[in-house]
Amino acid sequence: ARNQGVLWVSSADGRIKGYDWQVNDDASFQSFLSDHGWTVTGTATTGNATQVQVVESNDDRNEFFFPGFIDTHIHAPQFPNIGLFGSAGLLEWLNEYTYPMEASFGSKSDPQNQDTDPRDTPAEGLRVYDEVVARTLAHGTTCASYFATIHVAATNALAALCHKHGQRAFIGRVCMDNKDECPSYYVDQSAEEGFNATKSTIDYIQTLDPKGTLINPIVTPRFAPSCSNESLDGLGALAASYDPPLYIQTHIAETLDEIALVQQLFPESTSYADVYDKAHLLTNRTILAHGVHLTKDERTLIRERGSKVAHCPASNSALGSGLAPVRVLLNDGLTVGLGTDVSGGYSPNVLEVCRQACLVSRLLAYSSEYQEMTGTLGNETTNGAEKLSVEDSLYLATRGGAAVVDMADDIGGFDKGMIWDAQLIELGAVQNSTVSPLDVVPGNGLAVRSPVDTGPVGDVDLFGNETWQEQIQKWMWSGDDRNVQKVWVQGKLVHTRE
Ligand code: GUN
Ligand code: FE
Repeated sequence: ARNQGVLWVSSADGRIKGYDWQVNDDASFQSFLSDHGWTVTGTATTGNATQVQVVESNDDRNEFFFPGFIDTHIHAPQFPNIGLFGSAGLLEWLNEYTYPMEASFGSKSDPQNQDTDPRDTPAEGLRVYDEVVARTLAHGTTCASYFATIHVAATNALAALCHKHGQRAFIGRVCMDNKDECPSYYVDQSAEEGFNATKSTIDYIQTLDPKGTLINPIVTPRFAPSCSNESLDGLGALAASYDPPLYIQTHIAETLDEIALVQQLFPESTSYADVYDKAHLLTNRTILAHGVHLTKDERTLIRERGSKVAHCPASNSALGSGLAPVRVLLNDGLTVGLGTDVSGGYSPNVLEVCRQACLVSRLLAYSSEYQEMTGTLGNETTNGAEKLSVEDSLYLATRGGAAVVDMADDIGGFDKGMIWDAQLIELGAVQNSTVSPLDVVPGNGLAVRSPVDTGPVGDVDLFGNETWQEQIQKWMWSGDDRNVQKVWVQGKLVHTRE
């Protein structure tokens, strides 16, 4: 068989070394393998001395299993706004597009935001949330950390839909109570109201999934400018009051305008990260989105607290926020995953974020800010250390994301004992069809391809002599949801491509 099944990037010490081949030895999975024409042919040892199992398919489909993607930062209610950015950057965009869209998830009959019944979400909101979960699953996203809106009923609805579709998810009611910085039509009326509303979504989610097997609440102050000190403090204390402490997510250092605003609003703080730290929001279960412009001191503080970073390059480029220096973050010992940041990001496809992570890392060398930071001024043509490889990006999309959501032992890879959160990727058969010389003679039509000719799947076109590493490179650069044949979460099949 040309195609050998399961594939993964090994990283015993956090660095990308090479590839492993592993399968889960769960019995139902084994029978899936045999039903599907795959056979486990034995064990092999890689250069990294890891014992692995090799599975082979006996046909030409060019399929392989890959760990499900982990989207560490995504705004579910912003899906209808995908592709809309305006031109003036983050803060304008929030006012022009984002807040009005998010506000539409509230119910007019519930001005106090006390209704907890997910069924009272406006019908269009339910439709959007259902589509978000279905579409992200169809792209191979087995785990997502969602920002919802300020509304209790709609946040509960998103949680219920994740649970129903079987997607692993963190769901956060967005907290924003600073009346000076938030629109009057979309704001918590007080820190206390926001706190209580958040508490009720936590209760709902923990009642739906008491062990947090699939869905978990996540405390979500939107970002420092939209929150009062009282609410930041209250949310930090709320997260700490649970055992284990609740997850936390927010935005940090996304744009220069935003950082200036934070300095103005929190003059007593020494930095943006310090605002969160003073409120005990920097924990080892905190996801900080963007971190484009973090200072050295902030990176050190974040590492000391064990907080994680969601790198969102598609969003950072689309909104013009900047080039996040991922290699610097990694070298400083930070844990990094990838986020689509829909709809700051324009695609729910984590592969698209992998591509953008690679591209941004290549452009970084030409940024004078980056050259100053790394002492490579004038050296841009010789210093390639900032570049991310395909393997690096796929690592961030899986193992990195798993560490960001504090589940590195459970998901993001195929180590024995891990949870089966996986996707079956098909790249398609190598083209056998030939164009006859007669076909290119003017007046002769091109031969009509037989409908059973499988050919490439989506845009991933194999020439036939690629190594499997090259197949993966082609997949990362040109793959999409057409390549995702099946998706499993917690061992359960949750998506099949028709
Ligand atoms: N900062 C505060 N809110 C948001 C948001 O919705 N998207 C992004 N990208 N940044 C934010
Ligand atoms: Fe965001």
